[in-house]
Amino acid sequence: PSMNPDEIDEVLFTKEMIASRVRELGAEISESYRGDDVGGGGLRLPLVVICTLKGAAAFFADLVRSLSCDSQWEFMAFSSYGGGTTSTGAVQTVLDLRVDIAGRDVLVVEDILDTGHTLRYMINMLQARGPKSVRTAVLLHKAERTVAELGLTPEFVGFVIPNEFVVGYGLDYDQKYRSLPWIGVLAPWVYGDADSKIKYSACGGRGKATKQSDD
Ligand code: PRP
Ligand code: MN
Ligand code: MG
Repeated sequence: PSMNPDEIDEVLFTKEMIASRVRELGAEISESYRGDDVGGGGLRLPLVVICTLKGAAAFFADLVRSLSCDSQWEFMAFSSYGGGTTSTGAVQTVLDLRVDIAGRDVLVVEDILDTGHTLRYMINMLQARGPKSVRTAVLLHKAERTVAELGLTPEFVGFVIPNEFVVGYGLDYDQKYRSLPWIGVLAPWVYGDADSKIKYSACGGRGKATKQSDD
C-alpha cells in the first residue's frame, strides 16, 4: 500500500524483523506445548488459537503458520478504542466464540498489549468457560502503559515498545494503516488537533494528502 511518508515518523519494525520474530515465537510456542496432551482427554485435540479481530489478524495469520502443532482457528472481537488513540477501559464484546473451549488448550493472539483492559476482559471471559489452559501471545507490549493491577503476564511477547502510537501489520488508527507490511510510529499531526487532520479518499487520494492549513 502506498502512503505519504509524512504520516509516519519512524519505522520501528521492518517486514523482515517481524517475520523473523514471528518465526521465533512460533517455535517457542510449539515447544511450550510439546509433550502435552494438547486438548486433553488423550484425544490430542488441536490447540484452539483465538485471533482477536481486527488488529491481530496479520500476526495471527503468520503465527499459526509458524506453529508445528495443529491449530483450530477461532475469532473474537472486542472494542475499547472507538476512533481515538487511547483506551477507554470500557471493553465490549463485538464477536464471541461459537465453540465450547471446556477442557481445551487455548492460545490467545493479540497484536498489542497496551493498557491491558482488552486482554484482561477477554482472559476472564475465557477462564470462566473451563479451558484446560489459556496462554497469551502478544506481538507488541507497550509495557509502560500497562495497568499493573490487571495482573497480566503474557507468556509470549514479540517486542516491548515505548509509549508511542504505532500502526501497520494489523494495527490501525481510525481503521487506517492496517495493511502496511511494517510497523511504524504514527506522526502526531495525523491524530492531533482538528486543524491538522489529513484528507483521505478510499484509494489513491491519501498518497497525495498534505497537512491541512488553518483555512
Ligand atoms: C486495540 C488492539 C488491542 C487493544 C489493546 O484494539 O488491537 O486489541 O486495542 O488495548 P488495551 O490493552 O489498552 O486494551 P481495538 O479496540 O482498537 O480494536 P481493533 O483490534 O479492531 O483495532
Ligand atoms: Mn484489537
Ligand atoms: Mg484499533
